[in-house]
Amino acid sequence: MRKKIIAGNWKMNKNLEEGLALASEVSNMVKDEYQGSAWVVLIPPALHVSGVSKLINGMPKMYAGVQNCSNHKSGAYTGEISADMIKSTGASFVIIGHSERRQYFGEHNDWLARKIDAVLEAGLTPIYCCGETLEEREKNAHFTVLEKQISEGLFHLNEIQMQQVVIAYEPVWAIGTGKTASTAQAQEIHAFIRGLIAKKYNTAVAQEITIQYGGSVKAENAAELFAAPDIDGALVGGAALQSRSFTDIVKAMP
Ligand code: PGA
Repeated sequence: MRKKIIAGNWKMNKNLEEGLALASEVSNMVKDEYQGSAWVVLIPPALHVSGVSKLINGMPKMYAGVQNCSNHKSGAYTGEISADMIKSTGASFVIIGHSERRQYFGEHNDWLARKIDAVLEAGLTPIYCCGETLEEREKNAHFTVLEKQISEGLFHLNEIQMQQVVIAYEPVWAIGTGKTASTAQAQEIHAFIRGLIAKKYNTAVAQEITIQYGGSVKAENAAELFAAPDIDGALVGGAALQSRSFTDIVKAMP
């Protein structure tokens, strides 16, 4: 059965002390209050990840991750962080292709495909983000955009590699706007993405892949989203910055 995963993307928020305090609160709350089977992934700024990894080390269901990584293995790439370095901190997940990276840092599908390779080669799990802008949805171009993002970013992988990937559908118009896609809208896209994978690989692979929804997820809308058959968790931004709101989202996943 495919894994349910709730991940908190802290983006560029929290200094080290605040980040460690948040991680410690969340891990205590998850330990005391959550009986479900989902994995919980904390994704702080990369500077904090080794501290966060140490803090949750040995806790069942809890993992750490980072928000980006280089497509290069090592060398003269000032300011970059390699997948092997991330691995050495104890982190397990790497967000690749978040819409903010695509929008502000010019990351394109072909480049992201190489980052996916680097992450998989290091034995880490990529969370590959895809999603349309409001303009693309209004032009009814969202299916085409998503197909391009998924095929160009992921379809060079073989079947075994593909099964290591987590996908996050994050409509850009729902990120940080308070506007969530309706459960029906999200489910429609998740089923569409799974259909693309089934067509390229096979149904078994498509059924194994975790597809998270992201975009203004909060405790109030999480349970309804998680009840949809193809929504396997969430990539949470704003609501992940507080232990109570994030843990309540985790608790919405049975
Ligand atoms: P949000 O961010 O929950 O604040 O909308 C989601 C994300 O960007 O991953």
